[in-house]
Amino acid sequence: MAVKKTETKEKTAKTTKTTTKAKSTAKKPTAKKATAVKPVVAVEKKHVLYVASEAFPFAGTGGLGEVIGSLPRSINTSSDVEARIIIPLYQSLSAEDRAKLTFITNITVPVAWRNQYCGLFKYEHLGVTYYFIDNEYYFKRSGLYGYGDDGERFAFFSRAVLELMPYFDWRVDVLHAHDWQSALVPVYYKLYYMYKQGYENIKTVFTIHNIEYQGQFSPAILEDVFGISYKEYMSIEFNGCINLMKGAIDYSDYVSTVSPTYAEQIKTAEYAHGLEGILLKNAGKLRGILNGVDVDTYNPETNKALFVNYNKDSIGKKDEGKVELQKMLGLPVNKDVPIIAMITRLASHKGIDIVRRAMNDILKNDVQFIVLGTGEIDHEEYFKYIQNIYDNKVRSIISFNKDLAHKIYAGADIFLMPSKSEPCGLSQMMACRYGTIPVVRKTGGLKDSIIDCENGDTGIGFVFDNYNSDEMLCAIERAVNLYRDHKTKWNGLVTRAISTDFSWNKSAGVYLDFYREILA
Ligand code: GLC
Repeated sequence: MAVKKTETKEKTAKTTKTTTKAKSTAKKPTAKKATAVKPVVAVEKKHVLYVASEAFPFAGTGGLGEVIGSLPRSINTSSDVEARIIIPLYQSLSAEDRAKLTFITNITVPVAWRNQYCGLFKYEHLGVTYYFIDNEYYFKRSGLYGYGDDGERFAFFSRAVLELMPYFDWRVDVLHAHDWQSALVPVYYKLYYMYKQGYENIKTVFTIHNIEYQGQFSPAILEDVFGISYKEYMSIEFNGCINLMKGAIDYSDYVSTVSPTYAEQIKTAEYAHGLEGILLKNAGKLRGILNGVDVDTYNPETNKALFVNYNKDSIGKKDEGKVELQKMLGLPVNKDVPIIAMITRLASHKGIDIVRRAMNDILKNDVQFIVLGTGEIDHEEYFKYIQNIYDNKVRSIISFNKDLAHKIYAGADIFLMPSKSEPCGLSQMMACRYGTIPVVRKTGGLKDSIIDCENGDTGIGFVFDNYNSDEMLCAIERAVNLYRDHKTKWNGLVTRAISTDFSWNKSAGVYLDFYREILA
C-alpha cells in the first residue's frame, strides 16, 4: 500500500472532505411514516468508536486484539448501536488486506510542535467498519510495540483519532478507548476538543485490560511530545512520572475493566500497581464487564486448524486429535496419558514462578506437559532446559503460533492458568470451548468464569485459592486423578465445559445497556 502523499491522493482527500461535510450537514434524522395501527418512532442509531492499538485479525499480540476484534461484531447485531474500530495501519497488515482498504483522506496532525502526515483508510469486515490510521514513520516497523518513542507513536495515534473524526461521515456519540496506548484520547478530548464545533456532547469511556501497563513517561516530554501544557501536569502526573492510564481514568466519563472481580481488585494495593487511590476516587464511574470469546473461531466443530473436528456429542474424537498432536511434537503416543498445556505469555504474573517451583512434582505424575509462548528470557530458557531434562514428557515451544495454539487447545486434556493476577483471561474460555479442562487460580476473570467441579459432578474446572505452588499442585493432581480414575465423570466435565456459553452475547448485552445508560 502506497502511503506517501501523492497528487492523486491529495485530490481524493479534498473531494472526500467536501463531500463528507456536505453530506453531514444535509443529513437530518428522518422520521418514518406512522401507520394507522401503531406509530413507529424512528430509532436513530448511536455510534461508538472503539479506539485501540490492536484488533484481530488485522493486528494483535494478545487479549486486547481478541476483544477488539470480536466485541464490536456482537454490538452491531443490535438495532440501536453501531460500533466501529480505529487502529494504526501497521507494517504487518498483509498485502491481501491492504489491497482491500479504501483511502478516505489525508491530513496533518499536530504532535506537540511537529506536524505529521496522517492517512485514513477504511475497510468493512464481518459487519464492522475498521478505520486505519496511516503514518509510515510511526507504524512501518516490525512488531507493534517496544520502541523508545512508543509514547510519541501513540500520542500521534490518539491525536489523529480526534483530528480525523470530521472525515468519518458518521457522528461519534461514545469514544471508547482501550489501554494506555489510546489513553490520551479522553485526555485530549477534554482538554482541546469538547467545546469545538462538531465535537460536543461525546461521552468518553476508558477500558483497562491490564492495569500493570500504564504508559509511564518522563515529565520532560509532556509539552515536547504530548503537546500538553505544564499547567495540566498534575492531572496526568503520578509518582513523579507522566502516567497516561491515570490521566485517562481521571478524564474519562466512565471507566470499565474486563471482569467484575478485577473491578474490585484494582481498588486495592495488591492489584492496582499503585493506582488504587485513583480508582477509589473514581469508583463511582467504574464498571466490571466480563469478556467473551469469538465462538466462531474457537469452535471445535469447524476450526480448520484442528487435526480432527468434534463437538459436544462426539468428544471421543478429541483423543484422535490428541494422538496427532503427540506425533507432531514427537511425544510418546498414548491417548490415556493426560496432556497438561499452557498457552501463555511467559510473564511472572501469569504464574510461571509457581509452575517452575512445582514442575518436578507435576512431572512425577504420569502426564505430558506442553507449553507454547514467548516472554521473559529467563522463563524461556527454563522451559527449554526442562524439555531437555524430561524429553519424553515435556515440549516447550517458544513462539507465538496461532495454528499450533488451536491444535494444543483441542489436543490437551488439562489447561493450566495459575495467574497471580488476571484481569479477565480468555484462554480458559477458549480451552473450555475445546473441552479442555482449566485448572485456574481464583482471581479476576478466572474466578468469574470457571466454577470448581468439586468431585466432578458440577462445575467446569479446578480452582485453587492462594498463590502458591502447593495449592496449584493439589488442583492439578485432583484433575489428573479424576481423569485417570473416573472416566465417566471426566467426560461429563468435558461435555459441560464445551456446552458453557462463553460467547459475547451476554457481555455485549451488558455493554449495550451501559452505552444506552450513558447516552440517555
Ligand atoms: C489483557 C489481560 C487479560 C484480558 C485481556 C482482554 O491481556 O491480561 O486478562 O483477558 O486483556 O481484555
